[in-house]
Amino acid sequence: MSDGVCSTRSARADQSLVLGLAAVLRTARYFDSANAVMQQVSATLADEITQRIAREGSLRIGTHSHCLFVGPARVPTTPSTYERFTSLIEAFDSRDINAVTFFPGMTGNELSTLALVLAQTDVSGPDEINTLLLRKGVRRIEVDYLAGGSNVQAVAPVEAYAAAAQLGEKLREITEGARQVDVRQVRRVTQVIVDQILDDPVHLLALTTIKELNDRLISHSANVAILSVLLGQTLRLSKTRLGELCLAAYLHDAGKLETTREVLDKPGPLDPQEWVEMRKHPLVAARGLLASRQLTPSVMRAVVVAYEHHLNFDMSGYPVSQFRDHVTLFGNIVAIADRYDALTTARRYRRFSFTPHEVLGYLLYYAGKSFDPMLVKLFVVMMGIFPPGTLVRLTDGETAVVCQPPLAGQPLDRPKVRVWSGPRAGTVIDLAEQTGESSCLDVEMVLCPAGMGVVPAMDLSLFEVADNTDAESCDEDSDTIPEFVSRVLAGENA
Ligand SMILES: [Fe+2]
Ligand SMILES: [Fe+2]
Repeated sequence: MSDGVCSTRSARADQSLVLGLAAVLRTARYFDSANAVMQQVSATLADEITQRIAREGSLRIGTHSHCLFVGPARVPTTPSTYERFTSLIEAFDSRDINAVTFFPGMTGNELSTLALVLAQTDVSGPDEINTLLLRKGVRRIEVDYLAGGSNVQAVAPVEAYAAAAQLGEKLREITEGARQVDVRQVRRVTQVIVDQILDDPVHLLALTTIKELNDRLISHSANVAILSVLLGQTLRLSKTRLGELCLAAYLHDAGKLETTREVLDKPGPLDPQEWVEMRKHPLVAARGLLASRQLTPSVMRAVVVAYEHHLNFDMSGYPVSQFRDHVTLFGNIVAIADRYDALTTARRYRRFSFTPHEVLGYLLYYAGKSFDPMLVKLFVVMMGIFPPGTLVRLTDGETAVVCQPPLAGQPLDRPKVRVWSGPRAGTVIDLAEQTGESSCLDVEMVLCPAGMGVVPAMDLSLFEVADNTDAESCDEDSDTIPEFVSRVLAGENA
């Protein structure tokens, strides 16, 4: 049997274990151990685990950085399993545990007791849960913290971005005026983005140089969400507020799904009638979100941001508002992120895009009129004079792509760059360290990537995905992460 077939099977077996555990925990929320359904799901999963233990001695299912692991292998999620995976991760997180280990001889009863402890008590932390489990006679299951996970960090930013790129249907529901719009799934994904940014802001910032996935609106929504959260982070907003900001930023342009393609993709300036249609999208999104099943404070913030994001700092934009005299903080943040991403993206009516460097100049020029001047300053400091994705020529003649803004306190014009061509291609140079008399290396000029065959996101080496053949071969009918990555790298537009 080929290795590929074996790894596919083992990935499927891991996925089945994870889904089985999620199902047992979910069932335990509604039934007790005497219930027939509870007994059946526990016994089925116990059988599966017992077979694995027979081969491997013990079995550990854990979570780290919003990924699930069976033993050391990351279990790839798919659109169809994403919600159940997330519910299991949340169940672990809410109890402050990272892993459950099953030992030989474990029974279905022990499994259902574990599930009931996790689902129906408020005990948290490995020590307290293990004490309670022992008191209830569970001796062959232990919960603990998961050590290691060294290969996770390389995958997580791409995974967060990929998850955000799979929410097209949810946006559509909003503009179709579905009575029961449910933004919970979007919120889960935006929370992953926030967690990832808090953990490692650089990689997600660099991923915003991706400008077209299956759908330009989706990549724009993901990019605006990421840039907004990064800007919010510089304001030291709490994690809860960042979550609200991320959701609002992701949904800001949902109303564009109701704008006709002829207007959106018109290869020239819009006429007055077409402008009328284009200018409806803030209100369409706001109205659609107001139809949400639950009008929570975070949904209400998203309503306001959708309404405000073209209003301008001085209220000169659209829709014309007679009952507001200023734009909220979130509205101002999203306006900056929105314009930055829009202008650095080529459009039908404007086949070229402005360089990131040029767009920072644009934002500074319109600070105080279209944009909050204080936020623009923070945005420039956050991005550096040469934001990630900028193609530059160095003073030694080499071409390079900016891959990381300067660290706090370093000169803004001295980012880290990756050399793009020549004998040193691929080398990362920290320009902040190249300031000595003999080795002064600088950015000479900003280049335009159009026509040079450069896809900055590729050249940032963002996609150093851990060697995980299971992930690659798990599910042939879905976008597993490496597939997604290779399609992005190939520039494919499915
Ligand atoms: Fe918009
Ligand atoms: Fe937008």
